[in-house]
Amino acid sequence: MTAAGWWRLDMAAPAELEESLVWKLPELGIHRVAVQHRPESPTERQLIAWLPASDWSEAERARLPQALEPLAATFGLPLPALSWQAQPDEDWSLSWKQHWQPDPVGQHLLILPAWLDCPDAHGGRLQIRMDPGSAFGTGSHPTTRLCLEALERLAAQRGGTLAGLRVVDLGCGSGVLGLAALRLGAASVVAADTDSLAVTATHDNAALNGLGSQLQVVLGSAAALAELLAAHPADLLLCNILAPVIEALSPAFRALLAPDGVGLLSGLLVDQAPRLRHVLADEGWQAHLAAEKAPWALLELHKAR
Ligand SMILES: C[S@@+](CC[C@H](N)C(=O)[O-])C[C@H]1O[C@@H](n2cnc3c(N)ncnc32)[C@H](O)[C@@H]1O
Repeated sequence: MTAAGWWRLDMAAPAELEESLVWKLPELGIHRVAVQHRPESPTERQLIAWLPASDWSEAERARLPQALEPLAATFGLPLPALSWQAQPDEDWSLSWKQHWQPDPVGQHLLILPAWLDCPDAHGGRLQIRMDPGSAFGTGSHPTTRLCLEALERLAAQRGGTLAGLRVVDLGCGSGVLGLAALRLGAASVVAADTDSLAVTATHDNAALNGLGSQLQVVLGSAAALAELLAAHPADLLLCNILAPVIEALSPAFRALLAPDGVGLLSGLLVDQAPRLRHVLADEGWQAHLAAEKAPWALLELHKAR
């Protein structure tokens, strides 16, 4: 193992834990992360990360489980075993890119790694090009897919387009949801994330898709967005964050979303939906469980009448 090489880290990613892991690892300096189905079991998922050997000594690798155990404990789970494999440089770049393939979502969307041409089979789909240089780029998480599919349904209900809608994307990550809304015809997106890497990723992905002029992204959260939307709240709110965070942010929704607007909220578990609906009702919103991919749920939000 040379200092110029890489470590490949593999671990099982139980559904409850996957999202927390994917968002925690960059905080620990691990930015090259992929999640895929386990070859031996299509229903189970596996997390793979690549770490520069020069930054990850044996002692640092030994400490990593301690940093991750509290995440698993939140869900009453033991941390799955971590397995490490040395990777020479040239293998790393290949294996990294092999994990990202064109990814059709729903009826109309295609998430396309930045370096690939659109395959003929998907030529009719609306392309969202992503550069997963960080952990934010894949769009493969079930909660992201719930939101993307819900965007398509909303467009279908409106005659096949989101034309004219002004969108707010709270917790934008890679920007994938806002970019999908724009591809489906939305007029503009304002996006925010508390993580500066996500802000950069969203900005870069908007430029990659030639949509930079329709998408504005800021570092921050609901307060920063409320300032931008003070004169004219959005028609569509997208928010895919864990349930306790959505709950904490919910008092701000009325400053972000017009009274006749629609919200799509995901990142919550199905069994967290009743509590969140209740909290939202107290804030004057009617939310219903519009879709699920067990254990994850999507709530659709309207102003209570
Ligand atoms: C699950 S990811 C979703 C990313 C993307 N919207 C998607 O659907 O794939 C949640 C994102 O919310 C951000 N986030 C977490 N808490 C937040 C908060 N209070 N305000 C704004 N963003 C937040 C995280 O940094 C992360 O990028």
